[in-house]
Amino acid sequence: MSSTVVILGSPRKGNSEAIAMAIANEAKAKGNTIKEYRINSLKNIKGCQSCYGCKKAGKCVVKDDITPILDDMREADSIIVATPLYFGHATSQYRTVEDRFFGFLGGDFAPNIAAGKKVAIVVTCGTGLEGAQKTAAEIEGVFGGFFKMDVVGKIVKGGMMAPNAAESDAAIMAEAKAIGQKL
Ligand SMILES: Cc1cc2nc3c(=O)[nH]c(=O)nc-3n(C[C@H](O)[C@H](O)[C@H](O)COP(=O)(O)O)c2cc1C
Repeated sequence: MSSTVVILGSPRKGNSEAIAMAIANEAKAKGNTIKEYRINSLKNIKGCQSCYGCKKAGKCVVKDDITPILDDMREADSIIVATPLYFGHATSQYRTVEDRFFGFLGGDFAPNIAAGKKVAIVVTCGTGLEGAQKTAAEIEGVFGGFFKMDVVGKIVKGGMMAPNAAESDAAIMAEAKAIGQKL
């Protein structure tokens, strides 16, 4: 059975989460197990401490509520990441987790997490579509560039101010389902 980890970077139950979960639910319907993490709900999280402990240990040595996400990502067959655009960037919640991916690079800076995992990326915004596309491309660079994973789908949407804008848009939900089929 394939497993999927979902990393939700919004503090609210809004558009990026609705799209990410539509992808995940489609993957679940075809048999994947799903583990989702809403970063904002985690109590004890730290950013990367730049201790370089990961370069000796082969994984991040900071122990907190992000640790299970990193462990599950190693085991997962696919990963869904979702973030709103805040001031032209991914949210601080998402970025906090992303910096901890440093532990997926070994002492030689080669990836020590399995290549080839499938990845879906979701970025939603108000009017800053260009910024959202740039942010999605940056996230793709992390997964596809650094970790040699296979980015199978990206959903980048503007006009997503009301929290239910995505889930009430049938075309967006259909796009999400199509990506879920690939995981
Ligand atoms: C603190 C904050 C900063 C934001 N900055 C931007 C921005 O720079 N550009 C933009 O188009 N929308 C911006 N927005 C709007 C959100 O990106 C948009 O509503 C997004 O769809 C929210 O995602 P969510 O529904 O998953 O929470 C901002 C919203 C907040 C709360």
